[in-house]
Amino acid sequence: MSNVIAVVNHKGGTGKTTTAINLAAGLTRYSDVTSSCLLIDMDPNGSATSSLLGKMDGEPPARSIFDVLRRAITPQDGISSTIYDENIDILPATPTLESMAKTQINDRLAKVISALSTSYGWIIIDTPPNLGVLTQNALVAADYALIPTQCSGLAIPPIRQIKDLIEKIQVRQNIWLQLMGVLITQKDGRTPLQKPVRRELGQVFPAADIFKTVITNNIKIEEAPANSQSIYAYDSGCLGASLYRDWIKKEFLKKHQRLEKKKVERQEAVEASKESAE
Ligand SMILES: Nc1ncnc2c1ncn2[C@@H]1O[C@H](COP(=O)(O)OP(=O)(O)O)[C@@H](O)[C@H]1O
Ligand SMILES: [Mg+2]
Repeated sequence: MSNVIAVVNHKGGTGKTTTAINLAAGLTRYSDVTSSCLLIDMDPNGSATSSLLGKMDGEPPARSIFDVLRRAITPQDGISSTIYDENIDILPATPTLESMAKTQINDRLAKVISALSTSYGWIIIDTPPNLGVLTQNALVAADYALIPTQCSGLAIPPIRQIKDLIEKIQVRQNIWLQLMGVLITQKDGRTPLQKPVRRELGQVFPAADIFKTVITNNIKIEEAPANSQSIYAYDSGCLGASLYRDWIKKEFLKKHQRLEKKKVERQEAVEASKESAE
């Protein structure tokens, strides 16, 4: 079964796509879970799609997640291999995906993913900069929510809204959704992290849910996707590569293990209470 991670933040430019694609590449390199990975691009802007398919000219892919969600093709038929990484496939986005945002269907993606979940060790969902239907579909389908955020004070109010949405979905539609954590990105390397930002973030989420690794601004991180490469393939020795690598190896994978254990314990408790009710 796949581990499904939705990368969410309705503020634009917080590093969602950058984190989603470098996380995907990092997991195929550094995780013990089956190395194959599927990236699902739920952002009609398709920036992850452009990077992974190498189509910077804006030509939309022939088959996309939109066709899959409207059931014109099967999930398997929507998938493309990527020039980005031989172990990473993509369900690409097209601008037409935007029309899906007007529907009320929040569990379509979950159904698509359950049809694919034996084929990939990891499924990473990139989401658009809003908390509408497309992002909700991602959270309903996911095991984990990952929130990249910039470290300015302006970043805090949106974080509260995401937390509220996650809690609503945990109650109503996806009891297994867990918060993977908040990742601070794009910090100016020359100035120390604004203490109030961590403190304010800490008022929304417990410290254990805020990753200690902070991804600083690094020009290589910005350049790599335009070359259809992960930060590790583009320049494995640069600061950006070592920050993302350290975060994945030292924090993300360990947190994932802890949360998986918690999930199994909860599943056992649910089973036990079902049995005792019978
Ligand atoms: N750590 C970083 N260093 C330098 N540029 C970054 C970094 N993280 C993201 N960027 C750049 O910032 C912009 C917004 O990032 P992106 O990942 O597209 O955000 P989102 O998907 O949340 O809108 C992109 O141009 C990206 O290349
Ligand atoms: Mg994006």
